Amino acid sequence: MASIKKIKEIYNQELDYLNNALKNSNNQYHTFSLSTIKNSYPEARTVVLRNIKQNPSKLYFNSDIRSPKIQELELNNNCTALFYNNSRKIQLRFKCKAIIHNQNSLCANVWKQTHLQSRKCYMAPYSPSIVLKKWEPNLPIKYLKSDPSQIDSELGYKNFSHIELQVLETEILQLHHDGHIRFKKKDSQFIFISS
Ligand SMILES: Cc1cc2nc3c(=O)[nH]c(=O)nc-3n(C[C@H](O)[C@H](O)[C@H](O)COP(=O)(O)O)c2cc1C
Repeated sequence: MASIKKIKEIYNQELDYLNNALKNSNNQYHTFSLSTIKNSYPEARTVVLRNIKQNPSKLYFNSDIRSPKIQELELNNNCTALFYNNSRKIQLRFKCKAIIHNQNSLCANVWKQTHLQSRKCYMAPYSPSIVLKKWEPNLPIKYLKSDPSQIDSELGYKNFSHIELQVLETEILQLHHDGHIRFKKKDSQFIFISS
């Protein structure tokens, strides 16, 4: 039987898994599905979890400032982050409001810690998601097979953004043969919901 004590334990355990996922790409929470709203139609895509903070609860990912998801979030910053761990059969759903950090101190700090290999993506000549007449790698030709030099990599900074997702509500679903455990956390309140 699930008690409030039990669901608080599940919540804290999942926070530990999320923290582990930041550096562990084998952890299934390393990536999540981010949903935004595009002309009143939902859009979803996979992104990499880059940071997590508590009190207040926040999730972070990186993206090219030129990408459609950023334009969508600028028009409407309501979004959802969805995680699923297939081995442990547990889903996390976060209702969020996004804040886009670009060319500010937070963005600069994250950029400093971004590896050259990742910086290369932000040096793409074309904006992400634009139509191409023919296939192109959309990477700097000079660095197709190697990392950019530190100096050249700085060209990517203008396109780099760090997105903060302020969590408004968390919902957790843990699958069980004898009755799923599903609950929400809003502010500091935990409530059971039916599955
Ligand atoms: C495993 C995986 C991880 C990804 N991580 C990111 C990411 O952290 N940031 C990002 O902007 N796009 C990431 N992408 C690409 C997006 O899923 C998406 O295809 C692209 O950003 C275009 O999205 P948009 O047109 O909705 O902006 C990732 C894709 C995969 C398959």
